[in-house]
Amino acid sequence: MSVLSGKKILLGISGGIAAYKTPLIVRLFKSLGSEVKVVMTPSAIDFVTPLTLSTLSNHPVYSTFTTESQDNPVWNDHVALGKWADLFLIAPATSNTLSAMVHAKCNNLLVATYLSSTCPVYIAPAMDLDMYAHPANQENIKQLNGLGKKVLPVGEGFLASGLHGKGRMLEPEEIIRFISEDLKAGLPLNGKKVLITAGPTYEPIDPVRFIGNHSSGKMGFALAEEACRLGAHVVLVSGPTVLEASSAIERHNAISSEEMYALAMHHFSATDIAIAAAAVADFKPRKVGSQKIKKENALKAIELEPTQDILAQMGRLKQNQYLVGFALETEDEKNNAIKKLKSKNLDAIVLNSLKDKGAGFSLDSNKVTFIDKIEKAISFELKSKSLVAKDIFSQILSRYA
Ligand code: CTP
Repeated sequence: MSVLSGKKILLGISGGIAAYKTPLIVRLFKSLGSEVKVVMTPSAIDFVTPLTLSTLSNHPVYSTFTTESQDNPVWNDHVALGKWADLFLIAPATSNTLSAMVHAKCNNLLVATYLSSTCPVYIAPAMDLDMYAHPANQENIKQLNGLGKKVLPVGEGFLASGLHGKGRMLEPEEIIRFISEDLKAGLPLNGKKVLITAGPTYEPIDPVRFIGNHSSGKMGFALAEEACRLGAHVVLVSGPTVLEASSAIERHNAISSEEMYALAMHHFSATDIAIAAAAVADFKPRKVGSQKIKKENALKAIELEPTQDILAQMGRLKQNQYLVGFALETEDEKNNAIKKLKSKNLDAIVLNSLKDKGAGFSLDSNKVTFIDKIEKAISFELKSKSLVAKDIFSQILSRYA
């Protein structure tokens, strides 16, 4: 999943030759799951058509303060446009536009929108060699940087004038990479590794039969997606499930508790935060039939032995990891969860409620209580598992140094 997925991007295009590359910028944002709206200066229309940009963005393109509708001018609300955006990219940003931005010279819709916007602003300048090097432009860039706007570097190479040097707008791919990396760097779990176990385990009886449970894996997968959204490198160790994880998640599949144990142990030492959301079987058949057990054998009982407790072992090995477990209790819930937190050496435990309608196994919603080491408990309402994952991570982040 890209950091740009689901983001509302406003692309501001000013009138320079590099504007001919902007349809590709729109395409790249859209391919990463962003929604894009375009605002242009009137002179940018000489370089790229609004029709191309509206077709690619699936939104009307704005370049004037008003639009004629049945002989009546209708205001193109630059304030609403500025507030709509999660991120404003101005590319190409010409000398004229940079200067207007610095001096609040609101003589076109693009600059008016910029002055009304409150989201992060990225600026990709594009100018000819000496224009870009001119102290006036360098001073404007410095001032915009000083205001917290992110001015991208320029590319070096062949310029429209025939000169060679610095001033080209970065290529669309480079612009997207710059923004993605900058956004990632600001995420709270950037550079952290998060390990999550999810789903059921199947403990083999013979080659065709197993002991399993009804866990769908939805809670663990929602946690993995949330950790990924927060910038972590996520290792998801999943039991058998039909669920799919985003491509950015490093997924490893396990069938039995033994396989899940081996995978979790392999990844645990390099982990910063580990969450055991899997419903691991507590017992497994002592002997696994090498052939399908025939009914003539009149099997009367399956002898069971305990599985290895993956979470408890992580608790024993724990050094600096923040370790979170889940507890599913049916009686004396909070006290039993706290006992589990202590006995498995956890930093926090998430108590699942089976009593509440709409919460638990296989469902899309859950109702949890987050309990930390000092036994501080925070209960949340019944909500979708993706929102529960957000609650859990906000609790972890407020405690994890
Ligand atoms: N867990 C685990 N490995 C096991 C059993 C449990 O990693 N073999 C983890 C689960 O992923 C969960 C936590 O331990 O995070 C608690 O699981 P739960 O089934 O509620 O508790 P148990 O420790 O198995 O105890 P009991 O079933 O007796 O309540």
